[in-house]
Amino acid sequence: MRTSVKRRGQGGLPFVFLNAAITADGKLAPATRHFMAFAGQRDRQHLFELRATADAVMSGARTVDLSPVTLGTGGVQYRHARLREGLQERHVRIIVSGTGSIDPDAKIFKDRSSPIIVLTSGRAPAARLRKLRRLADDVKVCGKKGLNFAMALRWLRRKWQVKRLLCEGGGEVNGGLLEAGLVDEIHLTIAPVVFGGRKAPTLADGSGFGRIADALPLTLKSMERVGDELFLVFRVGE
Ligand SMILES: NC(=O)c1ccc[n+]([C@@H]2O[C@H](COP(=O)([O-])OP(=O)(O)OC[C@H]3O[C@@H](n4cnc5c(N)ncnc54)[C@H](OP(=O)(O)O)[C@@H]3O)[C@@H](O)[C@H]2O)c1
Repeated sequence: MRTSVKRRGQGGLPFVFLNAAITADGKLAPATRHFMAFAGQRDRQHLFELRATADAVMSGARTVDLSPVTLGTGGVQYRHARLREGLQERHVRIIVSGTGSIDPDAKIFKDRSSPIIVLTSGRAPAARLRKLRRLADDVKVCGKKGLNFAMALRWLRRKWQVKRLLCEGGGEVNGGLLEAGLVDEIHLTIAPVVFGGRKAPTLADGSGFGRIADALPLTLKSMERVGDELFLVFRVGE
């Protein structure tokens, strides 16, 4: 059955937008999952411009573990842009980890410039929860057996005033949000390279939709070519 798409502000949810660079074969990274900056300079700038419009930026535990990401603002010019738009100078940073398996030595924890929030579930053992509570500024358990994204997003809006949430992957987090019908917009950079590999992460991994009738319809909002890269924006829904 098709999941209904919850729009901006409905039911106390934030507006959720995904941003990813993908290869021409739809991969986020090679099968090793090691971090690889395969898109160009414009893509990097685009990432910081999008972050500058968000109250929170979110990534999955494996992205945070395997990449040198801090999910930061990108510099003073972006912080000034945020202030001009009436946003907080820095967005909050969110890590999704249903079992609490995040590496405590991940680079993001070395940067304390804005709050770090962990969204987890009842599948995280008590010892891991205790460790996470020492590591992060806030830890929220949403759902007993798995992470309930709708519950988590409502809580983020209520407690942390997150009205615009930018999700930067990886494939499993994107898939979970898309399958829950919580994504409003998708920003894609298609880079002119092929990684291949059936085990390489793709834009949306999770369980997926089994039938075309259940697949999420998208509407192309804009398209720009920069060199050999394409920048696409899709609205979720017809
Ligand atoms: N090209 C790009 O734009 C881009 C962007 C981001 C990432 N990447 C790449 O993507 C790869 C990582 O993607 P990935 O799919 O392997 O991992 P991921 O989505 O970053 O993280 C997966 C982890 O997040 C937690 N998680 C995700 N969905 C969940 C759900 N529905 N419920 C509960 N927990 C959930 C789980 O943590 P626990 O195991 O702790 O439960 C899971 O193991 C890396 O290679 C990274 O470099 C590329």
